[in-house]
Amino acid sequence: MLIGVPKEIKDNEFRVGLTPSSVAELVQSGHKVLVQTTAGIGSGLGDDEYVAAGAAIVNSPGEIFERADMIVKVKEPLASERSMLRPGQIIFTYLHLAPDLEQTKELIASQATCIAYETVTSPSGGLPLLTPMSEVAGRLAPQVGAHCLEKEPGGRGVLLGGVPGVPAAEVIVLGGGVSGTHAATIALGMGANVTVVDRNPEALRRLEFHFGTGVRTIYSTRSAIAEIVKRADLLIGAVLVPGAAAPKLVTREMVRTMKPGAVIVDIAIDQGGCCETSRPTTHSDPTYVVDGIVHYCVTNMPGAVARTSTFALNNATLPFVLALADKGLKAAMSADVHLRNGLNVHAGRITCKPVAEAHGLEWITAEAALNTPAMAKVG
Ligand SMILES: NC(=O)c1ccc[n+]([C@@H]2O[C@H](COP(=O)([O-])OP(=O)(O)OC[C@H]3O[C@@H](n4cnc5c(N)ncnc54)[C@H](O)[C@@H]3O)[C@@H](O)[C@H]2O)c1
Repeated sequence: MLIGVPKEIKDNEFRVGLTPSSVAELVQSGHKVLVQTTAGIGSGLGDDEYVAAGAAIVNSPGEIFERADMIVKVKEPLASERSMLRPGQIIFTYLHLAPDLEQTKELIASQATCIAYETVTSPSGGLPLLTPMSEVAGRLAPQVGAHCLEKEPGGRGVLLGGVPGVPAAEVIVLGGGVSGTHAATIALGMGANVTVVDRNPEALRRLEFHFGTGVRTIYSTRSAIAEIVKRADLLIGAVLVPGAAAPKLVTREMVRTMKPGAVIVDIAIDQGGCCETSRPTTHSDPTYVVDGIVHYCVTNMPGAVARTSTFALNNATLPFVLALADKGLKAAMSADVHLRNGLNVHAGRITCKPVAEAHGLEWITAEAALNTPAMAKVG
């Protein structure tokens, strides 16, 4: 297979789809890899390292999209990239289609095979390609939140860990899954008082078992959230309903009851955000203020620590990239239900139920889509 790695073009995105060692694995399995020049530079990976691993370096994304059988990326394809996708071409990357109708429609029209990292599953019921980035985003959240609590970005001037004689900040984490647990770990390590809210009793039990009494756990109800947000200095949104838009757990009225200068870090913004006042921001302009509350809603938080994130992502994606390249799309998909769960759009059809439901569009199962001819191209 010919595999292409374009340079990421999203604002301040410095990660890259494949590391040189992943390229070397693919080359050793008999595949060819094209890497856009300087694609890895933001993660400290030079063209020379890719050449040593066996890749060919090309100058333009156009050449990659024109020639590659499979594109391996990090973030969703932006409009200029979507316009280059070809029918039958595989794109393997984060897509986050549920909150993004325009992208969904354009991927359907492209007739490409679009496999979303975030909906690939694991036998234990987890999301193995989301996990490493959720770990990174979760660990970053208290770090950026602590900065936002400083006066300059509009925060209330509170030090997360307090000092002897002055109480530590109250950190409330909505969602005690991967990112929420990692956020709690770092917030606790920075000396904050930490409470985690989840609707899954098993998640709450796991947190209590993991942290002991160091972290308070609360069952998620509307009234519990309405009460607890009033106490927050730093509110971290870390909920997920897989494939679906994030539930709006924090209403605008609740935000109005928060302490002036409190901070919301909405990690779940890539699925639309779990606060009604959240809207996507970028690393170059990460925060805005609503009703006196500082909002940090960067959709690609791990891009800030690109090198750590690129290696963590590759550790998780490489086995699936190898399976697709070695076996081909249909054999790899029929051999592995978990990879098949990653299929979001194929040959003009949505194959992920939550994405279709989010947009009120039709869908068919991945199994059916892989065995039926492509839809006639529309528009
Ligand atoms: N912004 C970024 O850069 C970035 C990076 C990585 C991940 N993310 C996003 O972070 C979000 C969380 O990812 P994750 O891997 O931690 O998910 P996860 O599945 O591990 O955890 C989500 C948790 O949310 C809980 N939950 C769902 N509905 C709830 C509700 N109504 N009330 C309380 N809890 C509820 C679930 O029970 C689960 O424990 C996702 O949207 C993911 O895409 C964002």
